[in-house]
Amino acid sequence: MTKDISTAQLQFAKDVENGLSASQKYLSSKYFYDAVGDKLFQQIMELPEYYLTRCEFEIFEQHKDDILQKIKTEGKFNLVELGAGDGYKTKILLEHFINKQAHFEYVPVDISHQVLKELEAGLKAEFPNLKVKALNHEYFKALKELNKMDATPKVILFLGSNIGNFTPATAQSFFKELCEVMNKGDKLLIGIDLKKNPKTILKAYNDEAGITRAFNLNLLERMNRELGANFDLNNWDHFPTYDPFSGECRSYLMSTIDQDVHFEILNKTFHFKNSEPIHMEISRKYSLDEVETLAKNCNFTVRKHFMDSRGYFVDSLWEKS
Ligand code: AVI
Repeated sequence: MTKDISTAQLQFAKDVENGLSASQKYLSSKYFYDAVGDKLFQQIMELPEYYLTRCEFEIFEQHKDDILQKIKTEGKFNLVELGAGDGYKTKILLEHFINKQAHFEYVPVDISHQVLKELEAGLKAEFPNLKVKALNHEYFKALKELNKMDATPKVILFLGSNIGNFTPATAQSFFKELCEVMNKGDKLLIGIDLKKNPKTILKAYNDEAGITRAFNLNLLERMNRELGANFDLNNWDHFPTYDPFSGECRSYLMSTIDQDVHFEILNKTFHFKNSEPIHMEISRKYSLDEVETLAKNCNFTVRKHFMDSRGYFVDSLWEKS
């Protein structure tokens, strides 16, 4: 390995090496999100087939007042958003809460300093009176820091069906750990995509314009750029599947020929057989019963399910019991 490789790049290289050495090859979807991947994901959210973002938008528009009634506390509360991004949907809630003179501070948490800087600047221009305390840390570190700074009740937002990208076991350990950094009465609003007609789900991950395909292929390009790999994108096919029992939408990249790919940074070559898959991502869909079981297993009480008019998506409000 070269000397000036960063810690993040080293971790990326290690994860790739582990994934591509497994008997069933895989890559972690968290690596989709470099600058190019972020832009492609923005485009995905605007696709006609990708209903998730519009559903959550509708839920906030339709239920913003009920949401406020259910989350507000006697005094002030901190509205903490995990993985704040560009705050596109959250702004509906922020605007409504400000108009209703709710006593709160907005605490966006993101590991990207750039994302937070842009979000803060945008919010300052749009809502000059909103108090914003951005935390540039990984989620649990940020919540521990926040607990040290003040004991104000928390309402944590974890939106956009990000939970879908966890395996069930990881989702359970994530919410258990979250529960430990929350105080009794603190609340959690989680955006979750629901099980529905499999054709609707599959289309959302196999759009006509090919943006989701490009989103997956970008990870191969990222490895070419950052790890000195020599993937030829013409030799890969995007293949999404959906299992209506488990609710797992899985995406694979399939090797269309027998091929070798060399990684300069790893000084290693991987062989891919014709039709061999690399598992890229899980986007898991839940039933309301599964949401309730998850909440119970992690010591939360479900206060309310806020749903869109078609029943495609839920923002589920949990309280630490
Ligand atoms: C970020 N995450 C919730 C998206 C999803 O639906 O699983 C990522 C995505 N992958 C393909 N399209 C969108």
